[in-house]
Amino acid sequence: MSNLRGGLIGCGYFARNHLHAWQETSGASIVALCDLDASRAQGYAEEFGIEAVYSDADEMLRDESLDFVDIITHPDSHRPLVELAARHRVHVICQKPLAPSLEDARAMVAACRAAGVTFMVHENFRWRAPMRAAKEAAGGLGKLFFGRIYWRTAFEVYSRQPYLAEDPRFIIYDVGVHLLDLARFFMGEVEQLYCQIQRVNPKLKGEDVATIVLKMASGATCLVELSYASKLEEELFPQVLVELEAADGSVSLGPDFRLAVVTRDGVTCRTAGPHIFPWASAPNEATQESVVRIQQHWVECLREGREPETSGDDNLRTIELVFGAYESAETGVPYQVTATRCGSCAKEPRP
Ligand SMILES: NC(=O)c1ccc[n+]([C@@H]2O[C@H](COP(=O)([O-])OP(=O)(O)OC[C@H]3O[C@@H](n4cnc5c(N)ncnc54)[C@H](O)[C@@H]3O)[C@@H](O)[C@H]2O)c1
Repeated sequence: MSNLRGGLIGCGYFARNHLHAWQETSGASIVALCDLDASRAQGYAEEFGIEAVYSDADEMLRDESLDFVDIITHPDSHRPLVELAARHRVHVICQKPLAPSLEDARAMVAACRAAGVTFMVHENFRWRAPMRAAKEAAGGLGKLFFGRIYWRTAFEVYSRQPYLAEDPRFIIYDVGVHLLDLARFFMGEVEQLYCQIQRVNPKLKGEDVATIVLKMASGATCLVELSYASKLEEELFPQVLVELEAADGSVSLGPDFRLAVVTRDGVTCRTAGPHIFPWASAPNEATQESVVRIQQHWVECLREGREPETSGDDNLRTIELVFGAYESAETGVPYQVTATRCGSCAKEPRP
């Protein structure tokens, strides 16, 4: 079977990880690059040995015979680019956060469904090796009743992603989306949430601390904590720590991927770290490996005609939690989740 042909749109900071990961992925190759700033696309083209370079995505989609596009631009441009790909009947991967509003996100899912193209959100945190290991370990422990998923750091992220300091919606929109998705990954769907936000660093436009309490449909409680203002003894960026408590035991993913599992038989501990690729750069190894894993999953889904785990439709449930968290923080009251509705019409309950 010949390799699937992909075009990559948006050649900025994170695209480098996608490009390295595509080189590790079997069954697909990136054959064309596009960025509004052609010099960025040209730079990656030389580094990764890709011949075709464009500054206009429509032109790339017209000229190249592509099976899919991989969109790595900021969320404001996601909807027009996804709809463009759907018009060209090309399968689409789109980076998180999916869109700046739930209305846009639903329209994107509907456009892909109408065009019959597969749509995956590049929600990679659930593909990190330690997350997969924690989920597997929790599987044998009975019904989960409590979860805590947390990101507490003082890492100066603004030098590599300066746009984050300018966005009036910061930590929930950019990182919270990953942790809210992890809450769904570990504990199922959310029924209601309550959120408080703070801005500790006065130089930022948006919130840099958020605390979200999730009432899960199962009856469990899950706490999602986010902070870029936490000057702690150990700086763990970009690690996500997890605690899961179930009827028959618990799982804890601690610093440096230490996975402790408590069962009726006792306690076992091991390190559940990622595979480290030669191109990986500390401290991002787990993120970088997860990019390879999600892209390999994408290729397998396209080949086998399967829906990706983080399809656009699935991700509507995650992105609603993001906007719900902001609404709760603004109003001071819990947000009732409605994402049990159909992505294409936003009215009918999903089966
Ligand atoms: N999953 C993760 O761990 C992770 C980490 C970092 C960033 N991201 C996500 O990746 C996306 C990009 O972030 P970044 O830090 O790489 O941004 P960036 O600003 O470094 O790069 C974005 C690039 O997109 C280009 N672009 C914008 N609109 C375009 C268009 N219409 N056509 C072609 N090119 C266009 C810009 O010129 C720029 O080069 C964001 O959605 C961000 O949230 C994800």
